[in-house]
Amino acid sequence: MTDNHQTDRSHPPQGPLAALAKELPDWLETSRIQASSGRVASYIPELAGAPYNALGITVLDGQGVSVSAGDAELRFTMQSISKVFTLLLALIDHGEDGVFTKVGMEPTGDDFNSMVKLEIVVPGIPFNPLINAGAISISSLIKGATPKEKSERVLAFFRDLAGDSSLAYNEAVYRSEAATANRNRSIAYLLKANRVLEGDVEDVLEVYFKHCAIEVTCGHIARMALVLAYDGTDPLTGRQLIPRRYVQIAKTFMITCGMYNASGEFAIRAGLPAKSGVSGGILTLVPGRYGIGVVGPALNDKGNSTAGVHLLETISQAMDWSIF
Ligand code: DON
Repeated sequence: MTDNHQTDRSHPPQGPLAALAKELPDWLETSRIQASSGRVASYIPELAGAPYNALGITVLDGQGVSVSAGDAELRFTMQSISKVFTLLLALIDHGEDGVFTKVGMEPTGDDFNSMVKLEIVVPGIPFNPLINAGAISISSLIKGATPKEKSERVLAFFRDLAGDSSLAYNEAVYRSEAATANRNRSIAYLLKANRVLEGDVEDVLEVYFKHCAIEVTCGHIARMALVLAYDGTDPLTGRQLIPRRYVQIAKTFMITCGMYNASGEFAIRAGLPAKSGVSGGILTLVPGRYGIGVVGPALNDKGNSTAGVHLLETISQAMDWSIF
């Protein structure tokens, strides 16, 4: 682990990013203390060994200038952060009508792995694509003749967004989740019974577990977030990777459901679209300006990185980044 502050030395930050670079190491160390009140996720056994008080961040601007601090080089799996991008791929594959007959648009107020509403709210489709039930349904929509082909399409899309052709899933984390996912299996079979899932349940779960296990650093997450911050066009290459309308949809879900039952609180305190994952990652962005990746494996009781949330709230308030 490192806790020194680093910047891209070939392009030193200017303006607001230079101001951020100056303050970031102190803010990060203050937020790191929050980790002691959180817990590293262990229901996927392979995640349990993550360093609980690690905290890292990368902020990347549209010119490719980045500021990082703390454990920004720590490798972690995307987990639920990946759900934003599989939603986008499903929208590219099927359009809005194809996707929103299979998942809804509303927050749940339940835990991310809850299945209660699938049983009691007719017609038994997941409330939104960012809870587990919704993301499993989305996995079933990814085009491809086999689970392998679907996973390869997901990986190719993520590699383009992250600007890294070596991005891959972590085999040990994938196997660990696949071997222990009794709850997600229950959700998937219930979705199949409700006629939401097409195809073989285990095939769909393979695609889902693999995209959750894609391994990244804060830099990858910042780059993927930057594409969302620039409405689907990668400002570093000029390539349009996602239609603007679909990015609007994804960012709106991030505001309403991205931080689960703490989405309202995060919207008020940080004012930014964000998506968290159980390995402690958070993807967020400042529209038209920055893509941001954070990691801090200790989670609060809502399943979000406790130190990561604290750090983002601190920075956003100090830099006046709220979109509202
Ligand atoms: O399905 C699961 O439980 C994990 N693969 C992903 C859950 C997750 O990241 C929820 N985030 N806070």
